[in-house]
Amino acid sequence: MYVCNCAGVTERDIHEALDRGARSVKDLRRELNVANDCCQCVCDVKRCLREHQAMCQAVDPQFLGSHSVGAQTNQQVNQQANQQANQQVNQQASNQSALGRAAA
Ligand code: FES
Repeated sequence: MYVCNCAGVTERDIHEALDRGARSVKDLRRELNVANDCCQCVCDVKRCLREHQAMCQAVDPQFLGSHSVGAQTNQQVNQQANQQANQQVNQQASNQSALGRAAA
């Protein structure tokens, strides 16, 4: 769905720019030229930003802290989430192994 008709930018374009590291309307304006003409799209652009932040924060509650410095991409957030999940699985396997040895 088009968010900015003036620049022909879709919601998908915006989310891809956010995945690449854009962190504000200003960043999106610079990268995609959104909200740079009639500005009727500003509310929708901000909604996309909020949705993206909410999605990232759902994956990693610490994300907004790093979000403010603009250093973390979705890919990095996903990698951290995967690493945490792997650590939990390994820890559970280790605990079960220890319980099995104790029972024997
Ligand atoms: S709709 Fe985005 S600047 Fe006009």
